Amino acid sequence: METVSLSPRLLAIATLVPQGAKVADVGTDHGYIPVWLVQRQIAASVIATDIRPGPLKKAVLSARKAGVEDKIKFLLCDGLRDCPPEETDTVIISGMGGETIRNILEAAPWTRCDGRRLILQPMTKPELLRLWLSNSGYAISGEKLVKEAGVIYPIILASGGKQPPMTRAELYTGRWGLISEDPLLGEYLEQLASKTGRAIKGLERSKRAEDRVRLDKLREAFEGFYLMRKKLISKREGKDDSDADSKNDT
Ligand SMILES: C[S@@+](CC[C@H](N)C(=O)[O-])C[C@H]1O[C@@H](n2cnc3c(N)ncnc32)[C@H](O)[C@@H]1O
Repeated sequence: METVSLSPRLLAIATLVPQGAKVADVGTDHGYIPVWLVQRQIAASVIATDIRPGPLKKAVLSARKAGVEDKIKFLLCDGLRDCPPEETDTVIISGMGGETIRNILEAAPWTRCDGRRLILQPMTKPELLRLWLSNSGYAISGEKLVKEAGVIYPIILASGGKQPPMTRAELYTGRWGLISEDPLLGEYLEQLASKTGRAIKGLERSKRAEDRVRLDKLREAFEGFYLMRKKLISKREGKDDSDADSKNDT
């Protein structure tokens, strides 16, 4: 029997799953998270879904090699479409774009109900996902950053509920109150600022009206990253950080 070991990104996601959870891992691909959760007897049950047969076969093979094939339910489906809500209290959607994650959740409104826990790890557009979550009856209760091969990835914990609006910059980083203690925040802000700065330069050359709107939003986010960085430095130096950037924009 093979024991699965997880990369830092997958490990950070898997360790957020509480003991006894009924897990659905959407877009499982290699199936490492389901296998790891079963091997460590963390999950009470695991459903692994993928939209494509090739990745799902990979997941079955990983489970077979680990001797846990009979402990995981494999579903070939789009998102959570065939996933029984009553068999799921924890949904993992990781390694996909923020828009895909949003589309999967939009098609499964039951994920907002009964305190279900969502563990989401968008590879792109986390700002779009956070905005959608907060406008769609979800509250974000946790944020975590993880670094793998030089890249920093956000992990978002959410459940059904309400939350106050986030600033433009917080849509990219996660709410200050949830992220300010993260040891990777300073580095993440630098990455975001340099990416946003490049996008701003590109848009400044455009004459299209819709690009002006996008430009204004990016400038606001950029300024927010700068203010957040200042707050972070003050916080780390033990100074008061109560004059938070309070511009709300969703
Ligand atoms: C890059 S892999 C991520 C694998 C793993 N979750 C991770 O975080 O490493 C993305 C997987 O999601 C699957 N996928 C994409 N869209 C999907 C959807 N709407 N429903 C289910 N699976 C999907 C793809 O087939 C692929 O196997």
